[in-house]
Amino acid sequence: MTTRISAVAPAGLAQPAKMATGCAMVIFGASGDLTRRKLIPALFNLWAQGLLAERFRIVGVARREQTSDAFRSEMREAVREFSRLKPKDDAEWSRFAEGLEYVTGEFGDAVTYQTLAGRLDSLCSDHELAGRLYYLAVPPDVVSTILHRLKASHCIHEPNDPAFTRVIVEKPFGRDLESAHALNTLIARVLDESQTFRIDHYLGKETVQNIMVLRYGNTIFEPLWNRMYVDHVQITAAETVGVESRGKFYEQTGVLRDIVQNHLLEVLSLVAMEPPTTGAADDIRSEKLKVIRALRDPGPDTLERDGVLGQYRGYRAEPDVAPGSRVPTFAALRVWIDNWRWQGVPFYLRAGKKMAQRVTEVALHMRHIPLSLFGKGNASDRIEPNILVMRIQPDEGISLLFNSKIPGHDLAVGAVTMDMRYVEAFGGEPPEAYERLLLDAMRGDATLFSRRDAVEASWEWITPILRQAEKEPRRDPAAYDPGSWGPVAADQLLARDGRAWRVL
Ligand code: BG6
Repeated sequence: MTTRISAVAPAGLAQPAKMATGCAMVIFGASGDLTRRKLIPALFNLWAQGLLAERFRIVGVARREQTSDAFRSEMREAVREFSRLKPKDDAEWSRFAEGLEYVTGEFGDAVTYQTLAGRLDSLCSDHELAGRLYYLAVPPDVVSTILHRLKASHCIHEPNDPAFTRVIVEKPFGRDLESAHALNTLIARVLDESQTFRIDHYLGKETVQNIMVLRYGNTIFEPLWNRMYVDHVQITAAETVGVESRGKFYEQTGVLRDIVQNHLLEVLSLVAMEPPTTGAADDIRSEKLKVIRALRDPGPDTLERDGVLGQYRGYRAEPDVAPGSRVPTFAALRVWIDNWRWQGVPFYLRAGKKMAQRVTEVALHMRHIPLSLFGKGNASDRIEPNILVMRIQPDEGISLLFNSKIPGHDLAVGAVTMDMRYVEAFGGEPPEAYERLLLDAMRGDATLFSRRDAVEASWEWITPILRQAEKEPRRDPAAYDPGSWGPVAADQLLARDGRAWRVL
């Protein structure tokens, strides 16, 4: 049963989005999937909404030989296929595409940077650009080469220089604590932390940002947001797609590095953190860090006791995947946060590919009522506990399950749902995560980017779990059927605690 509530029209608090500062954005890895599917469509959307400064320039850099014209036509196709907003006509596209150009070059070759430095100098002076934003859409092992070459070619300004330099680094930031630390140390030799923007696109999702507004823009939820009222929390990130053409990447990554270490821990820390003193980037990021530091240290048998790894049937036949691969495509974990607010409340995390449904959500399952007034015996057990669900995607929204009298002459109780859907409340789909994040990076707002200490803290927590998963002789992850909810063992993980995954 669903009760729909209409949302209040966005109040006078809505602020018009601030335009980006005019800058040159350089995308390393411009011939890759991310540029086509996410970055250029996001930039086009910002431009079409009037959020990109008039004076902006985008320079794609990649190894593939091609002209700027060929790059522009390829990007036009990309926008046609992947963008939320489409160009109205050729003239509109041409106005956007005027700002696009391409430089061919090897990332390790000094000539690439000489060419780039020349282009950037003339673009910055011709268009009076306020700074440079480099986007490293490249594997972690080339990050250091690119940064050092940029530095050597004077393409990186000091943090106090009036012309800013910022660098966006794509995940994964390393593959364990040691490599993440090494990567961060390399970055720190070239850049100040204030110039470093580690991107986790989950943080750019409207609904992830709304976790903060739900908690701190209302008074009714926060008093219940603790161990006194919350029985447990479930965080799910399920995808219907498999590894597609990314077998090579995924074989090195697996679900623990691809989703759990970053996206799920970011969401978990927003759900579990204490209220920050102010809304300033560092206050929020410091509170999130405390959550990661409060995660109970994994013991030698954590994976056995509190985790399940799975692999979808057919994964081993995917392109670039080893025939005997033991890389997990599914993980479920029971996680504890050892602090006053959450002591004793399990957080169940699960993520997987080729699952029954594409859904990312956070569900706060509240405690059972203490005593039923509506029937004898264990009737209170039959009254469903309240559940507050934050639907991150798709069908973005928030719903609250509560109990109601079922109309009739007897006193029967049934669960109903109050449901807020973004599309109905605010009209239209929320913007893509990359739009918000690119805009913030151009404006110099690091709130939605991961800080060095938090990234290392999350690796520190997950590295022992990775070691257990990858200990030789490596065990086979539990097989599951594509289109299912993962291995049966994932259900047993909750069943042992007398709980069950939400039926989605
Ligand atoms: C990426 C992962 O970070 O997130 C992908 O590398 C995954 O494997 C993707 O598919 C999921 O993002 P979204 O926004 O579609 O939930």
